[in-house]
Formats: sequence, C-alpha cells, structure tokens
Amino acid sequence: MRNSVFALFSLFGLPVLVFSGMSFMGHPLAFAAPALTHPFPLNFEWCVATAAHQIEGGNTRSDWWDWEKIPGNIKHGDTAAVATDSWHHMDRDIEMLRELHVTTYRFSVEWAKIEPLRGQIDPEAVLHYRLFVEKLRQAKIQPMITLQHFTLPQWFRALGGWEWEGAPEAFEAYTQVVQRQIAPDARYWVTINEPMVHLLGGYFLGNVPPQEKRKLKHVIPVMVGLLKAHARAYHALHHEAENRTHPLQIQVGMANHLRYFQAAKRFNPLDQFFAREFDLLWNWALPDSLRTGKLTLNVPALVHADIAISGLQGSYDFFGINYYTRDRTSSSLILKELFRSANTPPSAEAQALYSPENWESHPEGLEKLLLKTAHRFPGTPIFITENGIADAKDLKRPGYLRDHLLAIQRVVQNGAPVQGYCHWSLLDNFEWIHGYGPKFGLFEVNFNTQMTTPRMSARQFSKYAIQNGID
Ligand code: FCB
Repeated sequence: MRNSVFALFSLFGLPVLVFSGMSFMGHPLAFAAPALTHPFPLNFEWCVATAAHQIEGGNTRSDWWDWEKIPGNIKHGDTAAVATDSWHHMDRDIEMLRELHVTTYRFSVEWAKIEPLRGQIDPEAVLHYRLFVEKLRQAKIQPMITLQHFTLPQWFRALGGWEWEGAPEAFEAYTQVVQRQIAPDARYWVTINEPMVHLLGGYFLGNVPPQEKRKLKHVIPVMVGLLKAHARAYHALHHEAENRTHPLQIQVGMANHLRYFQAAKRFNPLDQFFAREFDLLWNWALPDSLRTGKLTLNVPALVHADIAISGLQGSYDFFGINYYTRDRTSSSLILKELFRSANTPPSAEAQALYSPENWESHPEGLEKLLLKTAHRFPGTPIFITENGIADAKDLKRPGYLRDHLLAIQRVVQNGAPVQGYCHWSLLDNFEWIHGYGPKFGLFEVNFNTQMTTPRMSARQFSKYAIQNGID
C-alpha cells in the first residue's frame, strides 16, 4: 500500500517527500527523497531471497548433511551445521525484513525437515514454519515459498531421487502438506530452484550430491522426473487454492538460473557457436518445456531428445529469473575442459570463472535476457527471483543493485511485465560448495555471535523499496 502511494506521488510529480525519524536497526533513517526519475510500477514487489539449508542450520536428514562433512567437498571444510542459525532467530530475520521494507520474502521450506522419514511428517517442523509465515503476515510481508532449493531428504535420494518412479507423487504429497498445513494463504510459489544448476552439479559435474558424472544424455531421465514432479506440484497447488470456500488466486513458477552468454572473441565463429548453443541448452530448454509440454534437446553430436510430459504444458504463472553475471564463451577453454579426463580437476582459469567473488557486474545481460523472456513467453509475468553480488566490503553492491534495477526499469518501460525483484540475499550465508567465503548479504553476519549489521546497500535497498523507485 505504502509503495503504491509513493508510486502514485511520483507519477504525478508531486513535490519532494521527506522521511524522517524512521528507525533503521536502531539508527534513525532520515533522508530527503527527491522526485523519482525512475518509478516502478504500482504493486511492484520488493523482495529478498534466502534458502533453508543456507541459513537454518540443523538440516540433519538432508542429502547434504553427511556429504558436506567429507573433506574436500566444501571450501575450507565449512558446513551448514549452524549457518546463520535462522531456525532459532526468526524474530531477528523478520526484523531485518521489516527494516528493508520488503513487500515479499522469498525463502524455502526444507522437505527433509518436514518429512524426515518417508511418509512421516514432523509436526514440530510444520509448526515452526507455520509460525514463521504467521509472523510474516503480521509484518505485512507476503511469503514466496520455494519448495525445493537444491537439498533433498536422504530417504528420497536413497530411493533414486527424481529418477525414482514415485518421485512426482512424493513431491506432490509434500507440496500439499506445505500448502495445507503451513501456508494456505500464500500467493507466490516456486516449485524448484534452478533445476539446471541442481542437475548440472549433481549429475554432470558431480560436485554436489549425488555426485555423479554422467554423459549428458543420461541426465535426461533425471530432468524428466523433476519436470513431472514440478507439474504435479503446480496442479496440486492450483487445485487446492481454487477449491477453497474463498478461492485464492495464486502464482506458481520455477526459478530459472539464466546466464548471458556472449562470445569471448566477438568475431570468432566457434565462440559464437558455443554462446548460441549454451543459451539454448542452459537458458531455454527447460523453461520451454513448460510452455510446449515437451522436453526438446538438440545439442549437435551430444544429445537429441523430444519427450512429451503429461501435465507439463502451461504449468507456470510467472517466469522466475535468477541472474548474476555474464559468461564469455571461449571455445579454447571449453574444448580444453570438455576433453580433460574425468579425474583431472578443472583448470585454474575455469575455477576462477565460476568463483562467485569473480562474477562481474553486467546489467545489460539481465536486460537482454528479460527482453528475450518477454518475447519467448509473451504476456507471462516475470519475477527476478534472485540477483546479487558477493562483496564483503560492500563497495560494488550499491552500484550493482542500482544498475540492475535500472536495467529492469528500462525493460518495464518497454512493456515487459516484470512484477518484482528479489535481492540475493537478506544476509551472508552458507554458499554451498564455496562455504562462507562469498558474502552476498544486505546484512553482514558475525558467525560467532549471529549478530547482524546492515551494510550500506541495505539502506539503499530500503530507500528504493519505500519510494518504489530510484532517484
Ligand atoms: C544461486 C543459488 C543460491 C545462491 C546464489 C549465490 O545459484 O540459487 O542459493 O547460492 O546462487
């Protein structure tokens, strides 16, 4: 509501608004808001994102729990045993969300906690999440609930993971528990976070559970199982929401990790070829399958597939984009990596490229991908479900944040229906195989005391959220 009012003001060019006396983690936040040169649409959702395993701690029944303790799997031997201990710091987290003035919080619930053993729902975990959703409601923050963010229950893995024939049904049943018992009023749902990253790491690169290195064509059955599970969850969520006494309009989607591939050498045809192929395979193959109902893969000499999946066609209400950086496809590096033997570790150059601390800020990439999405999925609302930068000193984040929001604003002006923006992340957290090194938080975390401190960019974010725009 507050956002809409500010947006209206700015639309009509009303005079300078002065906010004073607002508290920012105990510090008075007083600033003069100049007329907005870049207002966002009314009802634009200002959001930050996290994931359960990265912040909660104690995820003992998940496939990552034992795996991350094996030396060499995570940088510096870090584990998510405690993480930011968010399981025990609900009020701290809600307070930070309030300070940021978000309208929406994207977080995940942990399947391994809700259903630690097959078919057995843990009432305490359910109650915990229900309480959290209730606290969000009191703070007037909408939940955007991710049902699966990389981690899976151990029992589900043991049965074969997404390839297990019972996977779609099991995922649907878990989804129903979350919706019915935890968040019946939630309007935004993300079924699966970054399916391509999840599959690539687990089954191709083999650097996360279940740590398999397969040929691309043998990853397809896992993709198919995952897509079937998504479709079942999508329909179950809608069925439930639409058949209540007071039907609820919900939006369900996936969070797709999109990368902007560009030839490293502009005029090198092989670099261009890889940029095109990666774009098709990495960015669009999976989202397109939700549009067409068929998983179609065509990678010259590697993989060809055309598989119809029942219930998949049209199983999205919004298109979620996680965008971080650009990839410059260098054919020489790619060929070297493709032909290295399975036991040789990736080259230092390749490793450096994928280290979050080295991801460059390239907002034009987001702009191009947004335009492509709007073109490929006409009329579909778009949500930036993640975007952020690892920057402990907060030197680059302010510019990164502003530039990416400006990029979004440009495409909105050209008619792309971008509905909201989630910054990754609320606070520093466990960054998967990179451990606690990369600091993505708007809030800095002291991991000894679990105290949090806003970085400068947190103030900036909250200012944009309050104004519903950029000045
Ligand atoms: C994304 C993940 C998220 C976080 C960011 C930095 O790929 O979805 O959990 O690790 O990268």
